[in-house]
Amino acid sequence: MHRKAWLLSLGSLLLVSQAAFAEGDALRGQKIFKKADCVECHAKGGNDVNPRKPIKGAEFAEEFKDDKVLETKIRTGVTGTPMRGFSEKKISQADMVDLIAYIRSLTPKTETPKTENAGK
Ligand code: HEC
Repeated sequence: MHRKAWLLSLGSLLLVSQAAFAEGDALRGQKIFKKADCVECHAKGGNDVNPRKPIKGAEFAEEFKDDKVLETKIRTGVTGTPMRGFSEKKISQADMVDLIAYIRSLTPKTETPKTENAGK
């Protein structure tokens, strides 16, 4: 009985810490955003070089809803634009998770997927 309850709580603890890791730490991500110079062109999630390509807002969230797609964009950059690629030497995999969490935090939850009420 006791042993079972103990195992159960241990299990949920593990789940909680895993979720925290998967979601990344937005606060840490903000530091990486500055350190990796993203802030130079994307201050506050905007885009000083090409204002049509911000990294926040409903349209952005929809196009980059998959973390992998967002990561690939950051890793490879956009050829022929000032958006260079950032290899793992510049942003480690652990830092990338936090950086993505920070970028996600720039889009308020209410701005993400508009499904039924998308009509204009
Ligand atoms: C020197 C300026 C500059 C820096 C530094 C920079 N970016 Fe960009 N970024 C751009 C430009 C310009 C674009 C638009 C490229 C295009 O025309 O598709 C862009 C596009 C993007 C996009 C895709 C947006 C979209 O809607 O297609 C993401 C995501 C992004 N940047 C993230 C980052 C991150 C994260 C960093 C830091 C690791 C960073 N950028 C650093 C200039 C920059």
